[in-house]
Amino acid sequence: MQTRLQVAVQKSGRLLDGSLWLLKECGIKIDNGKDQLKASAGNFPLDILYLRNSDIPQYVEDGVADIGIIGENTAFEKQKRIDTILPLGFSRCRLSIAVPKNMPYTGPKSLQGKRIATSYPNSLRYYLKTHQLEADIHEISGSVEIAPNIGLADAICDLVSSGSTLFKNGLEEKEVILKSEACIVAHPGLNPEKQAILDKLVFRIKAVLKARNNKYILMNAPNERIPEIIRILPGMKSPTVMPLAEENWSSIHTVIEESHFWDIIDQLKDAGAQGILVVPIEKMII
Ligand code: PRP
Repeated sequence: MQTRLQVAVQKSGRLLDGSLWLLKECGIKIDNGKDQLKASAGNFPLDILYLRNSDIPQYVEDGVADIGIIGENTAFEKQKRIDTILPLGFSRCRLSIAVPKNMPYTGPKSLQGKRIATSYPNSLRYYLKTHQLEADIHEISGSVEIAPNIGLADAICDLVSSGSTLFKNGLEEKEVILKSEACIVAHPGLNPEKQAILDKLVFRIKAVLKARNNKYILMNAPNERIPEIIRILPGMKSPTVMPLAEENWSSIHTVIEESHFWDIIDQLKDAGAQGILVVPIEKMII
């Protein structure tokens, strides 16, 4: 029987859409029946197991799932023997401590002796210990932000993304315990066949992520301005320069990180670049 990689993804929640999007962008077609807890890829040796997020680290440690897509915060909280393979750049959030707006707060010491509600007791314990604080950790499994309003706790420790849940509940973010994004975790010591499938998957994922973070840009410029423009373009050793039909003008093509683009756009215009086009890249193999 052909070896297949068992991939655990979140059954529902903030990571699910990103996980399925990523596999699709990798060209992996999941034959997904409605409400199925297991699905198979038709064109790649991989099965998907839809599991509760908080259970995935244990399944991966046990080898029931070979790899999982979870938040780094979950990996940190669960403290299982699993390897973190690759950050995936989506579902960015932070695990933070927040307090009611009207609570006097002068720093971490204001948490001393307080009751803190959280679904992340291990991460919170770690934070308190490193800050030499004693607090009463009140573990609850959801709707943590409501705890101060109903008198269950003085403060909370929970995930923050946009901050709107904190805002709606009259809370203010005070301390960031950790920053997190989705990542791939793997069972340590996969057999060579499974490792080979994982390597292939990681290769594809890197190509997708690289493409997403880079843009292909094209611009026209008079030939005498080309050296100056090339100096402005970050990180490119050798952009493509092609002559235009109009004499003494050329088209310059290169790939840049999207984050750099906005930094240099004005410089490029000042250097004489015209008709600048920014084009998404489908896949990028380096
Ligand atoms: C998370 C977290 C917060 C909320 C923060 O809950 O527990 O409640 O998102 O997001 P925001 O800063 O954008 O408002 P989620 O919806 O993932 O479900 P959960 O309660 O199962 O954790």
